[in-house]
Amino acid sequence: MAQEVRGVIAPGKNEPVRVETIVVPDPGPGEAVVKIQACGVCHTDLHYKQGGINDDFPFLLGHEAAGVVESVGAGVTDVAPGDFVILNWRAVCGQCRACLRGRPWYCFDTHNAKQKMTLKDGTELSPALGIGAFAEKTLVAAGQCTKVDPSVSPAVAGLLGCGVMAGIGAAINTGNVGRGDTVAVIGCGGVGDAAIAGSRLAGAAKIIAVDIDDRKLTTAEKLGATHTVNSRTTDPVEAIRDLTGGFGADVVIEAVGRPETYQQAFYARDLAGTVVLVGVPTPDMKLELPLIDVFGRGGALKSSWYGDCLPSRDFPMLIDLHLQGRLDLGAFVSETITLDDIEAAFERMHHGDVLRSVVEF
Ligand code: APR
Ligand code: ZN
Ligand code: ZN
Repeated sequence: MAQEVRGVIAPGKNEPVRVETIVVPDPGPGEAVVKIQACGVCHTDLHYKQGGINDDFPFLLGHEAAGVVESVGAGVTDVAPGDFVILNWRAVCGQCRACLRGRPWYCFDTHNAKQKMTLKDGTELSPALGIGAFAEKTLVAAGQCTKVDPSVSPAVAGLLGCGVMAGIGAAINTGNVGRGDTVAVIGCGGVGDAAIAGSRLAGAAKIIAVDIDDRKLTTAEKLGATHTVNSRTTDPVEAIRDLTGGFGADVVIEAVGRPETYQQAFYARDLAGTVVLVGVPTPDMKLELPLIDVFGRGGALKSSWYGDCLPSRDFPMLIDLHLQGRLDLGAFVSETITLDDIEAAFERMHHGDVLRSVVEF
């Protein structure tokens, strides 16, 4: 029997979000219904509301979530009712060209639930990133549920479902940061700070945090930055070179998503170094670089979607490291709020007042 729960929708472009009754169908084959315990507020939710992702309104927002599986549909064997899970937006298909080549973290045909959640009048909802977890319960593909140690706090666990995983993965998966590397991270919001925490975890010798906001640099130091640069007042390329013997960093992670900061990242890396772009640009942005510098500096220019994560490999491992005290995921939770506070949380996020606001149920 379909159930009715409370959830937060974006009804139309730039309209305020609204708490509505959401109809959640019973799980069909390959699907699961998850009782949400916590869900973080991410920039992508705001982009959906602003019409920046697509026009498939109304959206059921929320996608950085953890909860308990309530029921599963036919053929589901990997998760069972009662399992504590983090929701992911990379339920790999196992069949596409990336999966068949043994690189499922690039999967080009990820799974979502086939059935639609609706409003009471039958209007179909588009769940944000195929998740829609600003709701007491949500319907997803079973592969979107990744089991982790249930002793972790749900507010902390949910954040791994998107931005924090993107940042950690940009460092450890895409950038391949290793023991002794020098790393610079440009932009120290939730994603950049996670890249800093990931770099520390990977054994980076020097981690240089760059931001235009001193408040962000203070938090970055708590998460593992060994040096900080305010790029409003100091040229970040020169500062990073000065801190690395005049050469530049082995890995530079761009976590803003703008041409000027990408250019800084490009020139702040050592010869044969790696640039990782994890910040998301807008479609109008253009980059101009001398091609001779692209060639002459060697190395790798990479982008990182969702931190090149494989949820089944990375989520349980990172939760275990957190529980052992080796990765401070708790530092990313700035405040916990209720479903009724999301509009205000968008505002605080926009002003840079929080790393993450997390809705608790
Ligand atoms: N130079 C350095 N830092 C900057 C600059 C700049 N020119 N412009 C903004 N910043 C800093 C901000 O001060 C902030 O600390 O970048 C940080 C961005 O952080 P958030 O806005 O909190 O965003 P976050 O959630 O970390 O995401 C960063 O990654 O996933 C993408 O869409 C996301 O593009 C966004 C990026
Ligand atoms: Zn695939
Ligand atoms: Zn997100």
